[in-house]
Amino acid sequence: MKITLAREAPQTLATDWLVVGVSGKKPQSDPTIVKLDRALGGALIAGMKEESFDAKLGKTLALDGRARLKAKQLLVVGLGDSAPSIATLRLLGVKAGRVAMSRASLAVVVPDAGPAALSALVDGIVTGAYRYTRYLTGPRAPKRQLAKVTLVTDAKLSADHRQAVTEGQLTGDAVNFARDLVNCPPNDLTATVLANEASERSKAVGIACKVWDKKGIEKLGMPLLLAVNRGSTEEPRFIHITYKPKSLPANAARAVFVGKGLTFDSGGLCIKPSASMIDMKCDMAGAATTIALVTLAAQLQLPVEVHGIIGSTDNMTGGWAYRPGDVFPSRHGKTVEIINTDAEGRLVLADALAYATELQPTYLIDHATLTGACTVALGAYRAGLFSNDAGLLERYKRAAEQCGENFWALPLDEDLKDELKSSIADLKHTGSRLGGAITAALFLREFVGEARWAHLDIAGPAFLEKPSAAMPKGGTGFGVLTALQFLRELAEQPPLPAQA
Ligand code: BES
Ligand code: MN
Ligand code: ZN
Repeated sequence: MKITLAREAPQTLATDWLVVGVSGKKPQSDPTIVKLDRALGGALIAGMKEESFDAKLGKTLALDGRARLKAKQLLVVGLGDSAPSIATLRLLGVKAGRVAMSRASLAVVVPDAGPAALSALVDGIVTGAYRYTRYLTGPRAPKRQLAKVTLVTDAKLSADHRQAVTEGQLTGDAVNFARDLVNCPPNDLTATVLANEASERSKAVGIACKVWDKKGIEKLGMPLLLAVNRGSTEEPRFIHITYKPKSLPANAARAVFVGKGLTFDSGGLCIKPSASMIDMKCDMAGAATTIALVTLAAQLQLPVEVHGIIGSTDNMTGGWAYRPGDVFPSRHGKTVEIINTDAEGRLVLADALAYATELQPTYLIDHATLTGACTVALGAYRAGLFSNDAGLLERYKRAAEQCGENFWALPLDEDLKDELKSSIADLKHTGSRLGGAITAALFLREFVGEARWAHLDIAGPAFLEKPSAAMPKGGTGFGVLTALQFLRELAEQPPLPAQA
């Protein structure tokens, strides 16, 4: 997709779709609307009146432009009552990308806004035009893909604008990359393939990616990852991606991201019912977000050190599969009594988190499709956010709000800790059904030591049955945008070093 900025008059621009966002109480007096209306001989404002088009957020009005415009179709999008936020401009981009995804060209009139907003508009266009078509053949194979995007503005163009467009495009591409990984069927995306994808993308952006195979993982010491892998004929992989900026200020922060990389979760011997198993290729979404994020940080040359750590395997039922009642050691040292083999994610994460703390992170953050309980609590479109550090919690909430991804803080209730008491080992790995997202988080906390840590339970929004305003059906790449915003703010304002 080629995206260019142009100082042109929207009414004379040749394109398949022309998209204009309007806000405020009187959208009819928006200067772009007035110009287009004149070119259309009054048809636009007449149409807006007829449809009682107010600029309510998300409302749209489509008009055929062919007779009097150079644009074939015109789409007016409501952006709400007040001046549009960065998140709102991203939604405008998504709407534009969606409407034009199988056409050749799109032009979007850019509202007057800074580089961050322009960048968000662009990543919105790129992610809005996303479709997963790898397995479609014959008449269903895509014939065309949106190739040319023009951003129409009357602002004086600067290098900042062009940089913002580049960054927006890289960001949108990273989110789409994560979606591709999540949407890939589990027969074609094994742990080995996932690790290869991580290596290739790291290589492409010029950063290091170390991968351990099964033998390597045995030597490294990841007993819980190996326990989950026992029921599978596929090898596990452990992945460590490192982005170190060329020159780092002395007080620069080190952010370590951990991702759950279950390429398929059958539940193991505590097997899932078919209806719950069908979407379980999505159980590596945390890994996808992590790979996309670290490689994106490198492409954007953010002035922070960023690591991505992934434990990957599938959870299967082979004759050697781990059982309820088994006890395993862990990388951290604590022993774990297995209760339910379907709670495999927290086991893989426990060893990955223990490894991650060895890197002495300023902040440690994990993305995981961890519990159905979290989707029961918050619905499909919102992720659970847990943290043992108030400052980190505030930073994450702020970053999420900025970019429009939905999180909700959930508590690490100490009273629930008793549920993880085992009579035979240091820990049981599940509690009762009640507060399942919280007991899972409490289990993870046992493996992060003193690190300032946040756990993002993305079981809901990582993979959608139905699209939302900003995200498609299927894999969404949820979390990349917030984590990027978090890293940008972290680079600007690193926290004070922890008290010794
Ligand atoms: N991968 C699932 C969680 C999940 C559910 C992700 C729905 C996406 C959508 C996880 O491994 C799991 O099975 N969790 C169990 C935990 C239980 C056995 C304690 C769950 O949520 O039921
Ligand atoms: Mn499971
Ligand atoms: Zn799982």
